[in-house]
Amino acid sequence: MVLAIAAERTGGPEVLRVRDLPLPEPGAGEALVRHRAIGVNFIDTYFRNGLYPWPVERDLVLGSEAAGVIEALGPGVDDLEVGQRVAYTIPNGAYAEARVLEARHLVPLPDAISDEVAAAAMLKGLTARYLLHDTHPVQKGDTVLFHAAAGGVGLIAGQWLASMGVQAIGTAGGPEKCALARAHGYAHVIDYRSEDFVARVREITGARGVSATYDSVGRDTYPGSLEVLQTFGHFISFGQSSGPASGFSLADLARGSLSATRPVLFHYTDNRAWLLKAADDLFAMIGSGKIRIAINQRFPLADAAEAHRALEARKTTGSTVLIP
Ligand SMILES: NC(=O)c1ccc[n+]([C@@H]2O[C@H](COP(=O)([O-])OP(=O)(O)OC[C@H]3O[C@@H](n4cnc5c(N)ncnc54)[C@H](OP(=O)(O)O)[C@@H]3O)[C@@H](O)[C@H]2O)c1
Repeated sequence: MVLAIAAERTGGPEVLRVRDLPLPEPGAGEALVRHRAIGVNFIDTYFRNGLYPWPVERDLVLGSEAAGVIEALGPGVDDLEVGQRVAYTIPNGAYAEARVLEARHLVPLPDAISDEVAAAAMLKGLTARYLLHDTHPVQKGDTVLFHAAAGGVGLIAGQWLASMGVQAIGTAGGPEKCALARAHGYAHVIDYRSEDFVARVREITGARGVSATYDSVGRDTYPGSLEVLQTFGHFISFGQSSGPASGFSLADLARGSLSATRPVLFHYTDNRAWLLKAADDLFAMIGSGKIRIAINQRFPLADAAEAHRALEARKTTGSTVLIP
């Protein structure tokens, strides 16, 4: 049996319960991983509150990112070893002391990457990687807008953009978060709780606008995120921390021959070659010191509900990890 955090139904953080759950033997192509650190992500709240469809018939163990050690391997896994340190990101199942999952999702960890850093960076760092290199490949000299710049994905993206010579404009709620984002690569940070970010972006860019907007806030930032785009600009909607954006119409894109996309990390990570290459890039960025992973909140695994309360109340910055 292992301690896990499971929810019987959708709801607020109170539906998260500490449970003892059986741990199966790994089957063909599977691995049993003993977790050392588990990442907390906004997507966990979407599954918990029912915004995303409940993916199982029974109780749902949340958590989409973790690092640990391989304790057992099922038949047919040739490229991994028992005792190896690994990390992964797949939807759900990570809020547990240990679990069984398909081995194809596991990435071996270099010595330079600690368990906590890996658990804090797999989902968020690979998201920054695909957003900036795959969904909308940025070029040196570009100016882009990245919302929620002081968050988990935001702090990693700011550093990655700066390392590529991109002028990143961030948004964040409150002066402390703005200062933190500035210290993580953003050239300008707008406090979108007290300032009109559309007017400020126009001011910063000399009315030209940005070539891309990376928007994970949704309701509160749409349609301003489209308004600040220059001709041929790209609107990348990758989350909805404030609630789903409504009212989007294709006709909105005609203003500047704009394009819009709604990408999802797991469509990229499903390709193992991409996963290994992108993780390699991420670990190299961390190992070289170009990206520092800010683990600004740690909770015992049993207190996962507290972590959700903090995340949803906008009280966190950077990454949050649960320690089993
Ligand atoms: N599509 C994908 O592949 C993918 C992958 C990873 C993450 N995401 C999305 O990226 C976003 C960031 O994820 P994360 O885990 O790193 O979270 P996070 O950015 O650390 O936390 C969310 C942040 O959103 C901001 N926010 C704005 N309005 C909010 C509201 N009404 N309620 C709560 N927060 C609000 C808050 O920052 P301020 O206080 O500064 O406003 C908050 O700290 C999430 O929307 C997530 O779903 C998408």
